[in-house]
Amino acid sequence: MKNSGKHLLFSFMQIIFIILSLLCFTTRAEANFNKKVSGFYVFGDSTVDPGNNNYIDTLFKSNFQPYGKDFTNHVPSGRFTNGKLATDFIASYVGVKKELLPAYLDPNVIDNVNELMTGVSFASAGSGFDPLTPSISSVIPIPKQLEYFRECKKKLENVIGIEGTENHIKKAVFFMSAGTNDFALNYFTLPVRRNSFSLLGYQQFLIQRVKEFLQELLAEGAQKIVIAGVPPMGCLPFMITMNSPNAFLQRNCIERFSSAAKDYNQLLQQELNTMQFHLNSSNSPAKIYYIDIYQPLANMVQAHQKYGFEDINSGCCGSGYIEAALLCNKECNVCSDPSKYMFWDSIHPTEKAYYNLFLAFKSTIDCIVNN
Ligand SMILES: *[C@@H]1O[C@H](CO)[C@@H](O)[C@H](O)[C@H]1NC(C)=O
Repeated sequence: MKNSGKHLLFSFMQIIFIILSLLCFTTRAEANFNKKVSGFYVFGDSTVDPGNNNYIDTLFKSNFQPYGKDFTNHVPSGRFTNGKLATDFIASYVGVKKELLPAYLDPNVIDNVNELMTGVSFASAGSGFDPLTPSISSVIPIPKQLEYFRECKKKLENVIGIEGTENHIKKAVFFMSAGTNDFALNYFTLPVRRNSFSLLGYQQFLIQRVKEFLQELLAEGAQKIVIAGVPPMGCLPFMITMNSPNAFLQRNCIERFSSAAKDYNQLLQQELNTMQFHLNSSNSPAKIYYIDIYQPLANMVQAHQKYGFEDINSGCCGSGYIEAALLCNKECNVCSDPSKYMFWDSIHPTEKAYYNLFLAFKSTIDCIVNN
């Protein structure tokens, strides 16, 4: 009796084991089948730079405390926020990375084919479409970011061949986010561009640079390209501090900067439409997707209680009015709960705000994954 009981238990365990193995097998097969995104490649500025600037000679860095405060062990990675960027959330959502999308220039990444295959960011904080912008901040210009991508592509070709790499690129998602520095750091702050361009002229000049960037990516074989617009720039704490008649008392968004952003986004969408039309007419399978960051961020400002934000016009770091990069350092007081803040420093969103942005992008990402 005792023996057959043991035997029965043994058979029962065997059945469970078989069922579990079958389940594992089917879910794994399914995961492979659904894996429509082969890799994720990112270009742009601090909104998507995971730390490339750590490896170049610039003052636009953030690889020191309190940046990265909400990572385990509070490791400052070079991301300009307290934790993850929206692109980190996207990379794990589409299944190419477990947690974080790494920086291409990271010595642990630059020659690591597994990392290069699943995705990296070439972005550089302080960069922009106007060639003058990255030269002001001595950071990586966008044409140089493209050159790094070509270098990355060569490394893949050495391992999976030219055709293998072509197929890989076809199924990869490309993501570009820049433009804010061109307006906030360059056009509205320094005289050079303002003296030679009207606002509309400058917007058109930037759109032309965006177009060149996209054409180069398409020429490299990219078929799924996402490009973000610019945020309500008049709501950045730094812009409010620099331009409000009384920066301590009057901290509402400054309309003329946000409206410049809105107009630029409009022009950008028109240009993308024209480009898509030409792609369609030449039977190209390539798709360019615009993602709006303006409205989701404007919503976070307007309906801040809904998002749990108690402060939407000053950063969590220091006074919150001016500190960013070198000025936001370990000597600064930091707010006790960054998730109650929309901004981490005077320019950059908190991880919480980046997560909300990711949620706003989700439907577009789903659409890309299923196409
Ligand atoms: C391009 O083609 C797609 C269908 O493949 C269509 O949905 C889209 O509206 C077209 N876009 C333009 C601008 O012609």
